[in-house]
Amino acid sequence: MSVRRLADEQPPSFEFTPENRAWAEQEVAKYPPGRQASAVLALLWRAQKQNGYWLPRPAIEKVATMLDMPNIRVLEIATFYTMFNLAPVGRHYVQVCGTTPCMLSGSDAIKALCRKRIGEEGHVSGDGMFSWSEVECLGACCNAPMVQINDDYYEDLTPESFSRLLDDLANGRPVKTGSQIGRVSSEPVGGLTALTTLYGVDGRDGPSAAPAPANDQALAPLDEAAAHAHAEAEAAHIAATLATLPAGATPEQKADAVGARPPALEGPRGSPDDLQRIKGVGPVNEQRLHELGVFHFDQIAGWGRSEIRWVGTYLSFPGRVDREQWVAQAASLATGGRSKDGQTHTHLPAGKIET
Ligand code: FES
Repeated sequence: MSVRRLADEQPPSFEFTPENRAWAEQEVAKYPPGRQASAVLALLWRAQKQNGYWLPRPAIEKVATMLDMPNIRVLEIATFYTMFNLAPVGRHYVQVCGTTPCMLSGSDAIKALCRKRIGEEGHVSGDGMFSWSEVECLGACCNAPMVQINDDYYEDLTPESFSRLLDDLANGRPVKTGSQIGRVSSEPVGGLTALTTLYGVDGRDGPSAAPAPANDQALAPLDEAAAHAHAEAEAAHIAATLATLPAGATPEQKADAVGARPPALEGPRGSPDDLQRIKGVGPVNEQRLHELGVFHFDQIAGWGRSEIRWVGTYLSFPGRVDREQWVAQAASLATGGRSKDGQTHTHLPAGKIET
């Protein structure tokens, strides 16, 4: 590691703003008596942010006093971690990731642009607007090359888009954070290559924008990731419907708006099944299912899309029945399959029980 020293010029003093002091006191209070030093990174980070993204000596000493630590110990920490800047930086502090994935994707060109437009690494531009550093992986490798500017990530950069970004920041224009080519999260550059047919759409807008399955459409068996995506789409679909209801709608009115109440039994046929063997069903939900006239695995195994939506909404967790695949679990249990941990249920149809 290179030697890191405090800046030659230091302000005479440092005080947290009242708001930051209150925040700092809350942080310190998270730790048991005698362990207040555990808050040192958080307080240094807050001090740096308050001070235009660099740490002067008085701020380091202030944190040491607040935490009852020797100055040298806090100084060691501030000089060890490169996330702490020990000298002034530009108003827009650009951290360019130069680690292998970003380097292979063009970070050298981004660094060259920094040198051309801002100056050498560590130099603050004449107007005080910019400075830059090369840093190690910032954890957004999928969207390489990328930079962090103050608190935000800018990803999928090209020299052209990065240059535009600097222009916009310099001129106070609004900028777009995240992917600069419109990617959602870290999906493939050319759009989704998996889960593209789950909802019969091309998937470019992601599962949450896809239409949910038609009413009573039997579900295909899903692996965990697909079940999760499916549940997300369901939750979004149901939320959109519930948003049209008047405020104060009852759980039953909400459930009726999205699905159909499942057929109920007057009482169990003999002994009720142990519904808690379904992963996701605990004593409370079992009791509520009983109140709905649901006592047996084969009842749940027989739910179609409409009933799944009704029950999930009525129990106030739309999407969860899908995410935990209650129907598939119940189908397995109804035919003697194993329980709670879902070891066998994923191999059975999730819509109707097979006889
Ligand atoms: S390599 Fe650049 S973010 Fe990971």
